[in-house]
Amino acid sequence: MVALQENPLRVGLRQERTPDPLIIVIFGASGDLTQRKLVPSLYALKKDNLLPPEITIVGVARRDWSHDYFREQMRQGIEEFSDGIGSEDLWNNFAEGLFYCSGNMDDPDSYQKLKTFLDELDQKRGTRGNRVFYLAVSPKFFPPGIKNLGAAGMLNDPLKHRLVIEKPFGKDLSTAQVLNNVVKNVCREEQVYRIDHYLGKETVQNLLVFRFANAIFEPLWNRHYVDHVQITVAETVGVEDRAGYYETSGALRDMLQNHLMQLFCLTAMEAPNALNADSIRSEKTKVLQATHLADIHNLDKSAIRGQYKAGWMKGKPVPGYREESGVNPESTTPTYVAMKFMVDNWRWQGVPFYLRTGKRLPKKVSEIAIQFKQVPLAIFPSAAKQANPNTLALRIQPNEGISLRFEAKMPGADIRTRSVDMDFSYGTSFAMATQDAYTRLLLDCMVGDQTLFTRADEVEEAWRVVTPALAAWDGPADPSNVPQYEAGTWEPTEAEFLINRDGRRWRRL
Ligand code: BG6
Repeated sequence: MVALQENPLRVGLRQERTPDPLIIVIFGASGDLTQRKLVPSLYALKKDNLLPPEITIVGVARRDWSHDYFREQMRQGIEEFSDGIGSEDLWNNFAEGLFYCSGNMDDPDSYQKLKTFLDELDQKRGTRGNRVFYLAVSPKFFPPGIKNLGAAGMLNDPLKHRLVIEKPFGKDLSTAQVLNNVVKNVCREEQVYRIDHYLGKETVQNLLVFRFANAIFEPLWNRHYVDHVQITVAETVGVEDRAGYYETSGALRDMLQNHLMQLFCLTAMEAPNALNADSIRSEKTKVLQATHLADIHNLDKSAIRGQYKAGWMKGKPVPGYREESGVNPESTTPTYVAMKFMVDNWRWQGVPFYLRTGKRLPKKVSEIAIQFKQVPLAIFPSAAKQANPNTLALRIQPNEGISLRFEAKMPGADIRTRSVDMDFSYGTSFAMATQDAYTRLLLDCMVGDQTLFTRADEVEEAWRVVTPALAAWDGPADPSNVPQYEAGTWEPTEAEFLINRDGRRWRRL
């Protein structure tokens, strides 16, 4: 594997994109993520000719599957969740590199068995001892999995062995610290890839390009011109069949602490010294270190949770969260969370960042909106009651793109103004489909590029920022304390107050 042999400081968003021959071992091979995302993404890379011919994938799970049964399951996943197999020859070639090895995450013997099997495959497939171990399992298996891999000597070689850890990384600051220590005991930080799939989204990466490859926006990107920033990730789905996981997680742990905070970091960070993993991750960590909830003594002014109750989605009635199957009828798990962050540094002092995410909201939409300050004096009459401030909206999904809203003169003898949009759309400008985030991230960890993965200190800082809310909400559960919102509506009224109190409004998207 090339990348780990280089100075890690020089590795980042590499142009050279073909990995060395390697075995990718997926723990959690019988799970949804493997069938829906991981193997279809690896197959997409194969289709694009981005994988070496020796590439070998070994699925590990408890069930007693044969290699052929595993191949069949993966084929079904590709057919159902991606754009299909394409050529049978290509599939046959890919399937020859697919293997299954049953094992139990808690059992050291399983790792010995796996190790022997991988060594045999090295001989057969020419994979030269290069390994990527991907933990696509429930987080309770992260510590035993990592310890056992370490004890079996499977993470010993920093040049050949990498470890990919799915989210959630810990459930609060102290569990994240413990998990980081477990990792540190068996391997080096340059071997570790903590996944946040939002960082694999094309439009999220474009944020870096937009900010740092254009000269005209950066001078405005600060407290002198920006009034506030809104980051929204809204979903229409409810808890689906994931109550078991979601009840212990909720919107703050599931979405805000990771996905939204990554969007926040890329929006608020300083320019990195270079386009490499450590420069970028250091800047992200630095901005997190300066960030805190707006008022930690008065949580109502900086953190609001909510839970959807029964309502209507696309003309159909849907149950409330507490009525969903597998959910405790007295659950206090938030399905919505809104937070107000302040950043104590020269660039952002006094500029609030409002973040919100929720399930069963009216629309699936993710965007970052930079709202600029009002003009100092309104001299033109506006079609609206007041002149609208300029807004730059970065649309992460759907209709990926960027639009800048500004005032224009309405045609006619009078001078009256109205807001109009200058719009860039990915679809029209590039006329090519964007890849799934996992495709990008899998390729990155195989070539040894850590830029789009979170570093140990970064993940801890993100937990630190939300700790006051976790501490308050994880306390003794009183269901009547959790604000409710009707499914299909935007937020609980408490969340409206959070921003209205500052004389601002949530964007209606
Ligand atoms: C996952 C969360 O990380 O992200 C899910 O666990 C959520 O609850 C999903 O639905 C949203 O991802 P995307 O890419 O559809 O915005």
